[in-house]
Amino acid sequence: RTGVLTIPVIVHVIYNTTQENISAAQIQSQIDVLNEDFRMLNSDVSGVPAEFTAADVKIEFTLSQVTRKFSSKTSWGTNDAMKKSSQGGVDPIDPANYLNMWVCNIGGGILGYAQFPGGPASTDGVVMSPQYFGSRDKQPSGETFYLSSPFDKGRTATHEVGHYLNLRHIWGDGNCNADDFVSDTPVAGGPNYGCPNYPTKSCNNNGGFTSDMFMNYMDYVDDACMFMFTAGQKARMDAIFEPGGAREGL
Ligand code: ARG
Ligand code: ZN
Ligand code: CA
Repeated sequence: RTGVLTIPVIVHVIYNTTQENISAAQIQSQIDVLNEDFRMLNSDVSGVPAEFTAADVKIEFTLSQVTRKFSSKTSWGTNDAMKKSSQGGVDPIDPANYLNMWVCNIGGGILGYAQFPGGPASTDGVVMSPQYFGSRDKQPSGETFYLSSPFDKGRTATHEVGHYLNLRHIWGDGNCNADDFVSDTPVAGGPNYGCPNYPTKSCNNNGGFTSDMFMNYMDYVDDACMFMFTAGQKARMDAIFEPGGAREGL
């Protein structure tokens, strides 16, 4: 795919406290981060080491609609209740044609989670806890954003939208023995955390690279330390938009 694909986004804010009812500006700051990261317009991409090559994924995002709902629930877990009006949540709107994102407190230290392509339409989309949705870097003066460092640069949503668009974790959820089904990302022994020094290598036979690609959005490092997708990851995303693909409606 050479053209730019635009994905319309619907955000459902389900709040218990006032601060969980995040502002329109905070929501837009997250859309802005997605538009940078999926177009390789993020300034920190300059930190990609020479042995790796970052790619412009050529996807843009537009905010179509925001819904807001108060709930007496203080944490939602990961059982998809926030996606069901019958369980106090909000049903997805036209998930074949829109990326639905629910912003509600998940709890349990979980920043966000996503449904892979091919799952049920009724639960399709991305769930994010509000304090990780949006970016401190884009906070206008006089605005209050509810965000929690070091996950306050909007990269959790970049990671989750990566899953939603078919990407696996960079270490393949294995220990040097599993693949992410992408050939230009080295195998790794597990997730990386914090902000590792380059090079950090966890597997001996990793295709000749000197380091894990811990700066990939699909690792677990801090927001400030992840800043790239690869061409192989773009190809894996592109497959689902083809006729007959799980997200051809987008
Ligand atoms: N734990 C989440 C997941 O595996 C997201 C991790 C996001 N990491 C970050 N630095 N924002 O889906
Ligand atoms: Zn993940
Ligand atoms: Ca790989």
